[in-house]
Amino acid sequence: MTSQEIRQKFFDFFQSKQHKIVESAPMVVKNDPTLMFTNAGMNQFKDYFLGNQQSPYPRIADTQKCLRVSGKHNDLEEVGHDTYHHTMFEMLGNWSFGDYFKTDAIDWAWEFLNKEIQLPAERMYATVFGGDASENLSRDDEAAGMWEKYLPLERILNGSKKDNFWEMGDTGPCGPCSEIHIDLRPDAERAKINGRDLVNKDHPQVIEIWNLVFIQFNRKADGQLEQLPARHVDTGMGFERLTMAVQGKTSNYDTDIFQPVIQEIARISHKKYGENLQVDIAMRVIADHLRAISFSIADGQIPSNNKAGYVIRRILRRAVRYGFTFLHLTTPFIHELVHILVKQMGSYFPELQAQQDLIKKVIREEEAAFLRTLESGIKRLDQIIKRNQTEQTEMIQGKEAFELYDTFGFPIDLTELIAKENSMKVALDDFTAEMEKQKSRSREAAAVETGDWVVLIPSGDELFIGYDQTEAPVKITRFRKVQTKGKQLYHLAFTQTPFYAESGGQVGDTGFIESVNERIEILNTVKENNLIIHLSEQLPANPTADFFAVINSENRMATARNHSATHLLHYALRKVVGNHVEQKGSLVDPERLRFDFSHFQKLSSDELAQIEKMVNQLIWANAAKDENRKVPVKEAMAMGAMALFGEKYGEEVRVIRFGDSVELCGGTHVEATGNIGIVKIIAESSIAAGIRRIEAVSGQGALNYYQSKATLVEEAENLFKNQQGLIKNIQVLMEDNQKLLKQMEEIKREKVKAIKQALRNSVEEIGDIRFICMQTELDAASMKDLSFQLKDEMSRLVLLLASAE
Ligand code: SER
Repeated sequence: MTSQEIRQKFFDFFQSKQHKIVESAPMVVKNDPTLMFTNAGMNQFKDYFLGNQQSPYPRIADTQKCLRVSGKHNDLEEVGHDTYHHTMFEMLGNWSFGDYFKTDAIDWAWEFLNKEIQLPAERMYATVFGGDASENLSRDDEAAGMWEKYLPLERILNGSKKDNFWEMGDTGPCGPCSEIHIDLRPDAERAKINGRDLVNKDHPQVIEIWNLVFIQFNRKADGQLEQLPARHVDTGMGFERLTMAVQGKTSNYDTDIFQPVIQEIARISHKKYGENLQVDIAMRVIADHLRAISFSIADGQIPSNNKAGYVIRRILRRAVRYGFTFLHLTTPFIHELVHILVKQMGSYFPELQAQQDLIKKVIREEEAAFLRTLESGIKRLDQIIKRNQTEQTEMIQGKEAFELYDTFGFPIDLTELIAKENSMKVALDDFTAEMEKQKSRSREAAAVETGDWVVLIPSGDELFIGYDQTEAPVKITRFRKVQTKGKQLYHLAFTQTPFYAESGGQVGDTGFIESVNERIEILNTVKENNLIIHLSEQLPANPTADFFAVINSENRMATARNHSATHLLHYALRKVVGNHVEQKGSLVDPERLRFDFSHFQKLSSDELAQIEKMVNQLIWANAAKDENRKVPVKEAMAMGAMALFGEKYGEEVRVIRFGDSVELCGGTHVEATGNIGIVKIIAESSIAAGIRRIEAVSGQGALNYYQSKATLVEEAENLFKNQQGLIKNIQVLMEDNQKLLKQMEEIKREKVKAIKQALRNSVEEIGDIRFICMQTELDAASMKDLSFQLKDEMSRLVLLLASAE
């Protein structure tokens, strides 16, 4: 079976068990401050587990693009060195939201593995949660009893909290789990050592393939477990490992998922896979990281210098570095692998196909930039080594190794390798100390302490009513305290809210809530998953009172103008520049709009003028807003609505249309384009390879811009008495200036001549040294010039010139 067929079998099987098959959520997480990347299939369903929201389907199955490179689940260092961990991997999962529980989860897992894809039952082991005294939890006898239907007792093993109690992060839904492991070793080896002794022992061929989690708790910020209102199932099966087992391989990298890319790396590097350990590791690292980077870019995350972008940049650099050191690939090559990946995975993940050119371009630029940095790093290291040789010391200082790491992206093992080639060592303890210092600096900078929610009205689901209302009566359903760098804030959630929460590039609303006794300012509104959170510096004295919530309407209107202008700009860009333009990010606030999009050249001033003209013509056409809040996503696509890669859309979407501009959008907009007033583009720049940025202002912002420019011109004109025009006046002024400068030069030369003569006359002879000392009014350049002239005329001269200039 090919990997594609295996994936399909999984879907077909769970569809036959009444599961709704859904698409993978984006790998880059947008609305969850506790998570940068999807690290498990269940992330997108967190709210269903917690009871914050109702799932539209009681049973779901899918494949989820996951990335485990930061936080609680981080496999980065293992990747490539072993044959079964990955940064990015697909997790096949089936879910029950308060529907079936342990029995069906176990029965179906067994049926799928043994009947559907016929993996050998005698090679299987099941682990169950063995209990944990510190949590006051006992062994999962229930799951163990169910496994007895299929497995002999000796192949049902108890697991520790670490292995058999699954938690997504420090807080959130969790529960005991039961894992299925498979022993893929040859029979002879199996006869020698019982597979049971190798389960969970990091053996590359005795591995976990499926984790069945029985979600029944929520881990709170104070570490306590709280029973959830309903019980759920969350299963996750490593698609690459499953494929390895089905295809009879002993390494994930030997499957059809990775081999085409590995063979291409082998061709480019003129090396073979499977002959040398270091070379193999390097090829595996590159094949793995290529996927992580390409999928991230496809999901809208471009490598950068902070947060998620920096994680991606570091993964890419790790791949470049392995290629550089072990495959001797010193020019960009990873981008040349993209088309193979797209061929392999593009049919199930169309986002790869659609953005192939951009992915390639971004990777190539990043590779080239990092190779340049590596080169400067190597030069720096050469200097250190030469200095050590002169000083006859063999130790490279920890601080120096850290500088190489921090500034030049040199991982410590590369520094060590080069040191070793020169018979030197690195002061590793000092290096580690420097690393620790840096880590604690960034920990301090990022420290946020979030308290547990205090729930006042249980399941008081918030309703967003801000498309229609700017004020409304509300009650507080829950609140919590948040501490960031000495600043204390409160998070408040309401029964309903007119406040728009920051999302889709549009900033959150500000405003206030008011009861008969008090008024609390709302500083911002954000989303956590789907919960709308209002930020305030103060907690109401009586949080259970009735409040009236009012947003700052002036800001909201200005933001709406900029948001609608963004849609028109997007439309005009595609008309003027071409349909390859994809939105890559946006920021819309009351003052301005910023729109990032894929395009490979700088926009000419002619193109910018055309775009600006088209946007303003659309404004003057005064197209009315056509808003449709519940359009089935397929129908919306058929209407030609602009959707964003990497954005998670529900089954039903909101569609905003202004004339021919149609977008899937959750933001707030003007009633008709005429309300925007006018749009002025104020900047165009590049923010990354293949990504350009336009900044613009609309409405009052545009008026302010034009007014300040007009005032500037007026003031400049007033400086001139005659009426021949500002430009003409400036030209004349510049010409005059040139003439004057020339005359000045002439005068200066004369002056220097005179001073030179004076200097000659003031020579003092002290023994056989000539000494001149004088204070002048010359500038530095003239003094230097003069010194050289005198030096040529007189030998053994000491000249001291000073100037107040
Ligand atoms: N959440 C579990 C895991 O990630 C099962 O999906 O392993």
